[in-house]
Amino acid sequence: MAKVKTAYFCQNCGHEAPKWLGRCPSCSEWNTFVEEVITKGKKEVTVFSKSSKRTSKPQAIHEIEEIPQQRLQMVDRELNRVLGDGLVPGSLTLFGGEPGIGKSTLMLQMAMQETKHKILYVSGEESDQQIKMRASRIGELNENCFLLTETQLESIFKHAENLQPTMLVIDSIQTIHSENIESSPGSISQIRECTAQLLRFAKQTETPVFLIGHITKEGSLAGPKVLEHMVDTVLQFEGDRNHVYRLLRSIKNRFGSTNELGIYEMLGNGLRQVDNPSEILISNNQDDLSGSAIAATLEGLRPMLIEVQALVSTAAYGTPQRSATGFDLRRLNMLLAVMEKRCGFKLGAKDVFLNIAGGIKVSDPGIDLAVVASILSSNADIAIKKNISLSAEVGLSGEIRPVNRVDQRISEAEKLGFDKIIISKDNKGIKQSDFKIEIVGCSRIEEVLRELFG
Ligand code: TYD
Ligand code: MG
Repeated sequence: MAKVKTAYFCQNCGHEAPKWLGRCPSCSEWNTFVEEVITKGKKEVTVFSKSSKRTSKPQAIHEIEEIPQQRLQMVDRELNRVLGDGLVPGSLTLFGGEPGIGKSTLMLQMAMQETKHKILYVSGEESDQQIKMRASRIGELNENCFLLTETQLESIFKHAENLQPTMLVIDSIQTIHSENIESSPGSISQIRECTAQLLRFAKQTETPVFLIGHITKEGSLAGPKVLEHMVDTVLQFEGDRNHVYRLLRSIKNRFGSTNELGIYEMLGNGLRQVDNPSEILISNNQDDLSGSAIAATLEGLRPMLIEVQALVSTAAYGTPQRSATGFDLRRLNMLLAVMEKRCGFKLGAKDVFLNIAGGIKVSDPGIDLAVVASILSSNADIAIKKNISLSAEVGLSGEIRPVNRVDQRISEAEKLGFDKIIISKDNKGIKQSDFKIEIVGCSRIEEVLRELFG
């Protein structure tokens, strides 16, 4: 009997080593090595028939014919946008997200909407009864959608060959295993081998393939970073499970920009596309409450207005508490230090709580000024007028810095009926005559305060 060959794999980055190591030399993580069987039984079998049309001889670059990419336009506009205006045939897309965030729901919904295409939805996680129940909950059933509950890759390929689907969805890559590899499903070597085979399948049959992948507690795609560089596109589904909004981001896209953002609302009957995110991210509270400011931000290429809420109170204990939801805590601490040192506000002995409405995470520095304004508003207990929005970065010396694409932010604020927007004086090229909304340029926090509170 042949001796079983094993090797050790880092569960974080996929680094292979002949013996166990405490620390991975590649990604420097501790305690990540796990032994896995690597004996390959048979030689790789290719089950898919359509042969590759590509030639493999070197060609001069100017002689290569440019064939315009025929993209499949999806019914789901948000998905279409994030993929870079349609789905490229033969592309392999990894769709990641935390458990329970709605990955299966989005993919199934997509499968139900694409009535013009034949779709094979393979699930290794749920029974066909469960999936059918969910599909009926989402809406009309698509006669062209076929379900397969299977975890064995070779068998999936056989069914795919018989069915010849236009699109293949695998839910999830962690449950699929190939008979070429003996280690258990979900292990690095299985995931890597299955993804490699699916990639070959996608390229050779020109079938777009979606792979659902789980995300670990640390926020990276479970198991392997290896996966990320094998696939063409990596999409990530984000959001707070206790909130209804979900953001669809592209982290990597070989066929388009990674700046696009899709927004959904999780309802009882599936995910609703949100065309106008600003309307939902601003509360319709008519009362003037202190501690709330509206920021005109840009997520990816999408301008939207977001409500920032702050609560400042005298610390009950010695060490004041600072907490931020949806905003970087270190950046909050920095802004507090700037307000204290440069503007003389005594915030050192205050608890500060910050919250971005809607449960979404913002990384745009253009939100800084709204954060500062909401904190000062709560501190002084004076409300900021509902018709004012802010968009600027705050620098270390308390200066108001310009942000990119400010014209888009201003237009968005104008569209939503704001009367005034405060930006940096250094944002050049903005003409008041182009806009109906009043544009105020400031260079110091004190000037902003005068604008806000008189
Ligand atoms: P699911 O797609 O199973 O998550 P994932 O595949 O990412 O693990 O989503 C499960 C959650 O979505 C579950 O908590 C119920 C909720 N949900 C809705 O709110 N509305 C719906 O129409 C559906 C199908 C699910
Ligand atoms: Mg799922």
